[in-house]
Formats: sequence, C-alpha cells, structure tokens
Amino acid sequence: MSEMPVVTVEDRQGVRWVTINRPDKLNALNRQVLAALGEAMAAAVEAREVRVVVITGAGAKAFVAGADISEFQGLSTAQAQELARRGQRLYDAIERCPKPVIAAINGFALGGGCELAMACHLRVASSTARFGQPEVKLGLIPGYGGTQRLPRLVGRGRALQLLLTGGMIDAATALAWGLVNRVVEPAQLAETVQTLAAEIMAVSPGAVRRCLEAVAVGLDSPMDKAQDMEAALFGLCFGSPDAREGTEAFLAKRPPQFQPE
Ligand code: COA
Repeated sequence: MSEMPVVTVEDRQGVRWVTINRPDKLNALNRQVLAALGEAMAAAVEAREVRVVVITGAGAKAFVAGADISEFQGLSTAQAQELARRGQRLYDAIERCPKPVIAAINGFALGGGCELAMACHLRVASSTARFGQPEVKLGLIPGYGGTQRLPRLVGRGRALQLLLTGGMIDAATALAWGLVNRVVEPAQLAETVQTLAAEIMAVSPGAVRRCLEAVAVGLDSPMDKAQDMEAALFGLCFGSPDAREGTEAFLAKRPPQFQPE
C-alpha cells in the first residue's frame, strides 16, 4: 500500500489548495514536507490555470505545529545553519511568489508554522487558531525568518513578547495585532478563503503580480530605491492591455475584461 503524500494538491476554480498532510504529527515540517512544499509551490507558479495559491494544514487541530522537533536531535551548528537556510529559501520563495499566496490557518500555527503563515501574502484564520514562536522553550530561536517577519508584521514590542516568552496568542489577538487579515468560524474558513481568492481573480492579473513584486522587493529596500521600482512598475502597467481595458471600462461604465497572464 502506498503511503499518503505529505503534501496534497487540489485545484478549485483557479485556486490551488496546497495541504500539509501529517495530521497525526500536527503537520510538523520535516525534511520531506519542506521538499514537497517547495515542489508544490514551483508547480503552482508554472501552472497557467492557477491564479491564487492557498496553503493550509490537514485535520481540524493544526495548520502547522512547527518544524519537526524529532529531526533536531544531534544537529551540529553547521547542519542547523543549513536547515535554517533551507527553510528560509523556501519561505522567501513563497513570499516572492508572483501569484497571491493565502494561508488558511485552521489551528495551531507555531514556530515554523507561524513563520510559514507570515511568509504568505494574506492570512485568514479560524477562530480556533493559535499563534506562537515557542522555540525559546526548546533552547532555540526561530530559524525560518520568524525573528525578522514577526516584528515587521506586528511591531517590535509585540514580536518580542512572543519571541521571548514562547507563549501563544489566540486568533482574536492575532487579528487585533495585524498578524492575520480575517478570523472566521472554522466551518467558514475554506469558503471565506475561496471568496477572497475570487475577489483577487476578478482584478487584473498583471497588476496583482506587480503589486506583489512592489511590496516584496520594496519592503526590503531603502525608500528612494523602492519608489524608483514602484514608478518603473507603474509605468510598465501602462504598456499593458489591462490598463487600457480597465480605464476604458471604467469610463464606459461597464465591467472590465482582463487578460490572463
Ligand atoms: N515536531 C514533531 N512532532 C510534533 C510537533 C513538532 N513540532 N508538534 C506536535 N508533534 C506531535 C507530538 O509529538 C504528538 O506525536 P505522538 O502522538 O506521536 O506523540 C502529536 O504531534 C500530537 O501532539 P501533542 O503534543 O500530543 O498534542 P497536544 O494537543 O497535547 O499539544 C501542542 C499540542 C501544539 C501544544 C504541542 O504538540 C506542542 O507544543 N508542539 C510543539 C510546538 C513547538 O514547539 N513548535 C516549534 C518547533 S521549533
């Protein structure tokens, strides 16, 4: 009998649902999952029919409860640094994905799971979700971008509260802190995410891609360079059929017909 894949993929009306599938281990990220997630993301970027990517976890309990702690024992400094680099490369690829990536956070998002959610462009959480960076409880620090993305998203003070105590916050607090975009009842999570994806799919795909690029590259650049890039991308929009169509449709008071990329 073949084993269940650790990452499953399903397309729903232009939305690729990528599900981390180790529910008995609360979807902890082992090497196999990291590799499969990388492959799933690369395939989603390539697939023309995919307009939005959703990352979620299997089961009702966890999005991802972190890196797989059973793989930590006996790691040397060099091996641990390489592990962190591998995770960081994957999460950077998610953050720089040219298609919108939404985290559908269906439960615990801890350690590498919270870091994974933060690498996504948008986050929708179930009211049962809980967030934290518990690495200090293991004598560790986050290694997949958490010390950097968390303060950028919620501010230094709130980030340090989570990082230094290893404690968790609930979904309502995550919403109040700006760590997630929306919180819904567990039964509404998939539909809410699908509706959000549909809203994005109704606007210009080329403009969406350029927004993602402007934010991803710009946030890591000095303001003057970031604005040079914004102006360059703004200009490029004007050479596109979508900009002509969007402005013409607005002036003609009709819905626009945007081109697929
Ligand atoms: N790595 C490896 N295994 C993990 C895991 C992780 N990060 N998180 C959960 N699991 C495993 C547990 O070992 C357990 O496996 P078992 O049934 O073979 O014993 C299974 O998932 C269920 O977890 P359990 O701890 O029994 O569930 P719980 O409801 O009592 O507690 C948590 C849930 C999330 C609070 C708890 O699992 C936890 O603290 N996980 C680790 C979180 C963490 O530190 N993440 C950062 C890692 S750097």
